[in-house]
Amino acid sequence: MVHWSAEEKQLITSIWSKVNVEECGAEALARLLIVYPWTQRFFDNFGNLSSPTAIIGNPKVRAHGKKVLSSFGEAVKNLDNIKNTYAKLSELHCEKLHVDPENFRLLGNILIIVLAAHFTKDFTPTCQAVWQKLVGVVAHALAYKSLGHSEQKMLPARRWKPKASPTAAAMVHWSAEEKQLITGLWGKINVADCGAEALARLLIVYPWTQRFFASFGNLSSPTAILGNPMVRAHGKKVLTSFGEAVKNLDNIKKNFAQLSKLHCDKLHVDPENFRLLGDILIVVLASHIGKDFTPASQAAWQKMVRVVAHALAHEYH
Ligand code: HEM
Ligand code: HEM
Repeated sequence: MVHWSAEEKQLITSIWSKVNVEECGAEALARLLIVYPWTQRFFDNFGNLSSPTAIIGNPKVRAHGKKVLSSFGEAVKNLDNIKNTYAKLSELHCEKLHVDPENFRLLGNILIIVLAAHFTKDFTPTCQAVWQKLVGVVAHALAYKSLGHSEQKMLPARRWKPKASPTAAAMVHWSAEEKQLITGLWGKINVADCGAEALARLLIVYPWTQRFFASFGNLSSPTAILGNPMVRAHGKKVLTSFGEAVKNLDNIKKNFAQLSKLHCDKLHVDPENFRLLGDILIVVLASHIGKDFTPASQAAWQKMVRVVAHALAHEYH
């Protein structure tokens, strides 16, 4: 059974009490449909989903988003009994709606981004860590019926696999709008601050990543990590290098060839971690840019971090 510490419970309920369920629910579902367009197939009776504007203005999306987030509130109220709380909904999603459980993970990550954009600085790394745990537990409870009723089984580990095709990263096409969304936002961020925060969040939210940074000194608590000058300096270095990708959108693979070799051959970083850092960077952008981190911006950036992750994984075999 999932264990929640008193501090975790407090962080969850204090954020939740400030959430506008109608607004955030509508926004989360709209973002899901915009950023991951294949999820639209589940909602083909919802009318016009033909563009971001249509999706955001669609009253059925709004109403359903509110319903979904209200139901998420049941998990918050029943932290020690989430699996039973979702037994019926799990049956509905698995047996009737045939929703691939991977989509629960995607919606969970979207919800984290919505919270980051709404609460900005108050959505601290510790907050993120506990919410990441909560959306994981909810996803697991909703997938329960499709996992063969065994408590032991975790969500099917859909490990991110870099594509083997050497052309995968070379073939990326960026529309003028995507380029504008990426460079426009990049011009507004402070690379030192956001880089430091992204690396600190990675180390706090996914503590197993600390093993790569054993030479960095004190990483024993969120406060220690946030105050660690080596984390700050390295975070800045990583995000600066990310900036090279922003400047060379049409040549990202080549740009990262050396770094890919370094991370693969010397550092032995599991490429799954590139995906995690990419997701974290999106949360950092949302919390710094707030409302201006629109669904279209998110979609472009989500593509960007995926392309960078592919490029970094390119030298892996
Ligand atoms: C946190 C995750 C989720 C929660 C808490 C949730 C909750 C709900 C709830 C409460 C309903 C209404 C059930 C009813 O009317 O009895 C519902 C329906 C539905 N859900 Fe989910 N859901 C989640 C994720 C997803 C995802 C990821 C998808 C697909 C991408 C999805 C697709 C649907 C569909 C297609 C319906 C039926 C909509 C309709 O035609 O009215 N859900 N969900
Ligand atoms: C967007 C993804 C990433 C980028 C752009 C990136 C970039 C960099 C850069 C520029 C360096 C410095 C290389 C040098 O000094 O020549 C570096 C080093 C390093 N990276 Fe990454 N990195 C990324 C993801 C990761 C991840 C996910 C991990 C592990 C969880 C990781 C672990 C390391 C380690 C351990 C070093 C060496 C640190 C040291 O001891 O100085 N990197 N990375």
